[in-house]
Order: sequence, then C-alpha cells, then structure tokens
Amino acid sequence: MKFKTTPYHYNLLKDEERLSVFYEAIKEFAASNDCSNLVEFDVGCGSGILSYFSKDYFRKILAIEIDPKVADYTRENLKDFKNITVINEDATTFDFPEKADLIVCEMLDTALIDEEQVPALKNAKKYLNENGKIIPQSIVNVAELVEMPRENIHYDDVGSNTQYEILSNPVTYDKINFLDDFKESFNDVLRFKINKDGFKVNGIKITTFTLLSDNIICGPTPMLNPPLLIPIEPKNVKCNDLINLRIKYDMGEGIQTINVNYE
Ligand SMILES: C[S@@+](CC[C@H](N)C(=O)[O-])C[C@H]1O[C@@H](n2cnc3c(N)ncnc32)[C@H](O)[C@@H]1O
Repeated sequence: MKFKTTPYHYNLLKDEERLSVFYEAIKEFAASNDCSNLVEFDVGCGSGILSYFSKDYFRKILAIEIDPKVADYTRENLKDFKNITVINEDATTFDFPEKADLIVCEMLDTALIDEEQVPALKNAKKYLNENGKIIPQSIVNVAELVEMPRENIHYDDVGSNTQYEILSNPVTYDKINFLDDFKESFNDVLRFKINKDGFKVNGIKITTFTLLSDNIICGPTPMLNPPLLIPIEPKNVKCNDLINLRIKYDMGEGIQTINVNYE
C-alpha cells in the first residue's frame, strides 16, 4: 500500500527495521489475544502505519494525530478500513470516548529527553483497561564515556562513520516500564570504569534500547533513538580510573534540560 504523507513521516516509513519490530510486536499481541472485540489507540499515529498493521485484528482503532495536515493525509490513506478512525486532536488532553486494550505509541527520542509523546502517553494510559498493554512496553538506557571530535551535543547518525572512541564500561542506568507511573525527571550519579589508556574523556554517549514486548528488543535505528552524544569537561584518563558523573534531564522537555557534571 502507498502512503501519502509528509517528508518526515516518509523517512519514518523508509526505516524498515523500525517498522518490522512494531509489525512483529502487534502481530505477537494479536496471536496471544482474541482482538476481535478489542480496542487499540494509536497515539501520535503519524502516517497511520501502525494502525494499518493492526487493521485485521481489532474491532476498533482510534488513531490520534495532533498535526491537522498529517491527520488529513492519514484519514485519506486509511479510509478503506472501517474499523480505523483518525482523530485530529492533542492526545495530551483528549477525552477518549472509550477504553483501550492496547496502546501503541511510538517513542522515538533517546532516553525520552526530546520525546513529545511522553505527556500524550500519560493521558492515554488513563483510558487503558486493566490488563491492557502498551507497545513499546519499556525502554532501557545505557551510558558510556567517550572521546569525541565534536564539541556540541548531537545525535549519532546510525550507519554513518562518526568517529568517537568508547572509553568505559557501559552503565545501564534506567529502565522505564510504560505501564508504571515513571518519574519524568532523571537525576542520578553514574559510576564508570575507564578501560583504555591514552585518551581524553570529553563526552558521554547515551543509547536507548526499546523493548517492544518481552520477546522483541530493538537498538537504535536511523529514525528510532539514535545515540545521543553529550560533551563534558575534558579530562585525561587511564585504564581502571573510576569516574563519577551526575546526570540530570527532564523527559519530554528537550535536550536543553541536560546537565552533566563530575562528582
Ligand atoms: C514519531 S512520529 C509518528 C509515528 C507514527 N507511528 C508513524 O510511523 O508515522 C510522532 C507523531 O506524534 C504526533 N504527536 C506529537 N504530539 C502529539 C500529541 N500531543 N497528540 C497527538 N499526536 C502527537 C506528531 O505530530 C507525529 O506525527
């Protein structure tokens, strides 16, 4: 099927790895539940591709999109599927007319820092039936110290040959289960052990892994959670040095909220 959509959503559609993990997770949910009487919300539906993947399973799909132009395209794209309703509303305040058994809500931004869907999911969850599920179900964040050539905060283009040297063990520092009431502010001290000699630490790399379900995990893809590289004060290091860093940020509030300091 062809989707008419914006250039941004078209780039999302071209990211096959991203599409395939969501496709598999929706199929897996449908294989273990009789969905013929179930309702799905597609929160921040964009092109509507995730509603399209769900169309053969659910009694009803409510696809919510805040951007009116995108919603118009998506309504047109999906008009043949009578169980899908595209609604042009802000999901952070929308009063959903019924409850859902599954919410799909694509969280694309590393560690949720610049992820506008955080408040949208929070509101939609109020309408999730007991035993309802969310895709993705959780994320795991990992941090590593690096020496990097660039001095500004930036995303690593997955597939590009960005040159940076990883200098420490990876530290798994946060796991967020979307069914839980998670705190949107992160503030903690991470402890790293340097594992190379002859380099200067000048950055921290954050990588987010998305658990679509218990069985499906996805690392960064070109459009889903590209690793984030954050500059820190340069420091000469040697093997086995221990470095403590306090990292703070507000999920959903943007990369300008990030603050990293040595402790
Ligand atoms: C990652 S993109 C699209 C994801 C979609 N699954 C796709 O494949 O096209 C997230 C979408 O959420 C929409 N969005 C952001 N905030 C929203 C809100 N508060 N309510 C509804 N939609 C929102 C954006 O306009 C954007 O189209």
